[in-house]
Amino acid sequence: MSAPTTDQPTIYKGLAGVVVDKTAISKVVPETNSLTYRGYAVQELAQHCSFEQVAYLLWNGELPTDVQLADFSRRERANRRLDRTAASILAKVPETCHPMDVVRTAISFLGAEDPAAEDPSPQATQAKALRMLAVLPTIVAADMRRRRGLDPIAPHHGLGYSENFLTMVFGEVPDPVIVKAFEKSMVLYAEHSFNASTFAARVVTSTQSDMYSAVTAAIGALKGSLHGGANEAVMHDMIDIDRPERARDWLTAKLDAKEKVMGFGHRVYKNGDSRVPTMRQALQEVSAHVGEDKWMTIYAELEDEMFTRTGIKPNLDFPTGPAYFLMGFDIPAFTPVFVMSRITGWTAHIAEQAASNALIRPLSAYDGPAQRPILVR
Ligand code: ACO
Repeated sequence: MSAPTTDQPTIYKGLAGVVVDKTAISKVVPETNSLTYRGYAVQELAQHCSFEQVAYLLWNGELPTDVQLADFSRRERANRRLDRTAASILAKVPETCHPMDVVRTAISFLGAEDPAAEDPSPQATQAKALRMLAVLPTIVAADMRRRRGLDPIAPHHGLGYSENFLTMVFGEVPDPVIVKAFEKSMVLYAEHSFNASTFAARVVTSTQSDMYSAVTAAIGALKGSLHGGANEAVMHDMIDIDRPERARDWLTAKLDAKEKVMGFGHRVYKNGDSRVPTMRQALQEVSAHVGEDKWMTIYAELEDEMFTRTGIKPNLDFPTGPAYFLMGFDIPAFTPVFVMSRITGWTAHIAEQAASNALIRPLSAYDGPAQRPILVR
């Protein structure tokens, strides 16, 4: 493509509407509210598949056979342990920082430790992705417990991915209703084409940097409240509202102040996020299971009033925030849990970018001072 020749090129602020590359990993069709991973509708995957199956699908392009899944699961379980050096480094990260800082530091340190960090071969790439997928729950659970003044719980190799994680956090295997709802959130969060964090990972990969550096950048991008950090912000807002009868006035004040309402709107979906109905249902199931309908009621009030006032619908972070809260997670851990899921999509995109690379380097339109001489005194 030739460089722009005019002084006033078209600017696509925030890259909105710009198609920068092809991908075979997922497809978002805003017009039909559909999202597919490798051709499978995400709602069906959340209903019928485990998170491990979806991780395999994203990385390999096909759902695993029973034999392939058993092998994948065996390798995932073998990689769950965090080595002593990494654990002691993470124990030194101040508890005053956000847990996303711990996760970002952890991935960066794992990269520094890994002798294959710079190996771009497909085998090494798969091994690194699997290692991050397997060890992230151990890191997130240990940090959550540390902040509660509790010792970490070692991974349990006899348990599946979600049951193991929930056991490492809460000390016991939760009820199947909670496990299933959690598993659905993990499937829904796993992948979403060229979102900000995935794009950040692809930009880093495009410079021929290593996978850990790309994931570290992606974690930084996900942390922000316009992206993954919204699931935490949603819950803070709901706690602020506190009583369902206050929800509509709270929203009015927010909109009158021209503030963004967290958990609503989306860059791509303008008529509702395809993942929301599945997660809304999961929130409903968790609410019924724990016998607490306050958050679901606030949810429904906000959803209804926001649509009436602005026509804007919730995104996935809106049901996931209260669902994670009801599951018992501390609010600052919500986005790290998102990382545990999105690591699958990020690493699939890193592999895809590396396999068909072009340096990502957009142009800018300069609007600073015209060229001028230095006045030498
Ligand atoms: N609350 C209030 N108004 C909103 C919201 C919202 N959540 N989202 C969009 N709007 C309004 C904007 O004010 C703007 O109105 P205007 O044209 O009168 O100025 C219009 O809708 C377009 O909004 P933009 O911010 O320009 O749209 P964009 O595509 O850039 O924004 C974004 C997408 C950043 C997600 C936005 O909807 C937002 O800030 N939402 C809240 C944060 C959030 O929930 N993020 C999670 C994203 S999903 C995820 O990461 C899983």
